[in-house]
Amino acid sequence: MPMLRTAARGRLVQAQINGITIAYSDQGTGLPIVFLHAFPLNRTMWATQEKALSSQFRIITIDLRGHGESDAPLWLYTLEQSADDVNALLDQLAIQQALFVGLSMGGYILFAFYRKYAARVKGLILADTRAQADTAEEKDGRFQMAQTAYKKGPSAIADIMIPKLISPATIQTKQDLVQQVRAMIEGNQISGITGNLMAMAERSDSVPLLSQITCPTQIIVGELDQATPPSDAKLMAGEIPNAHLAIIPGAAHLANLEQPTTISQIVSSFASDLARKAKS
Ligand code: MLT
Repeated sequence: MPMLRTAARGRLVQAQINGITIAYSDQGTGLPIVFLHAFPLNRTMWATQEKALSSQFRIITIDLRGHGESDAPLWLYTLEQSADDVNALLDQLAIQQALFVGLSMGGYILFAFYRKYAARVKGLILADTRAQADTAEEKDGRFQMAQTAYKKGPSAIADIMIPKLISPATIQTKQDLVQQVRAMIEGNQISGITGNLMAMAERSDSVPLLSQITCPTQIIVGELDQATPPSDAKLMAGEIPNAHLAIIPGAAHLANLEQPTTISQIVSSFASDLARKAKS
């Protein structure tokens, strides 16, 4: 498949993947680390980690379909489709295996990815995510949110989502961070927001998968995360063989934005261990 733009590594590149344009960034050399963002943000939520880690590792951040600078077609949105997009991008980049980091919806997509493409997964970092499917009530909430997006647009979604994503203390004291998150949400198209809500509502229960995950796994959760609370992280840590769990003080759902240095350090040390084991 041809690339639309083959910009130098580190800058935005767009690729034709499964019939749509997918935007991504590819920076650094070494063990590839692929970062998948939360809903309804974009790949720039990983900017601090990209900066901190790209001197040691090859950092790939992707705008998942329906987000950021990737296309937001009217269909098709399933988490399996997003996993297929990631897989096809890795084919284009000639990356056989990588460490994958997924936060929240990014984590849901990693479960779908692992089901289909486990051989590509050298290690997993599951941040502020959960393995359970939606309840009937949660599915209904997604439908209501899709209606709000359709009627009132992305800024109404930002109003609803920001208090779910960031801790009250950060909302009070770090207006620049709040504005950064708001701009990411408002930069999305309604088709992408509604399509991804439907995809998350329809996702499979991944709890039965957990005991079959055989790669090294790190779980991260903000201690104040209410969307995917520490109890969800403990469930994953209890079921995935030999998984490690880190609970991050002073962070809610977007732990990598509220405690960027701590998260970069955890990813760096996990990735260094993986790279060392691969050499020995
Ligand atoms: C996310 O951060 O990706 C979303 O909050 C996930 C969800 O709504 O389940």
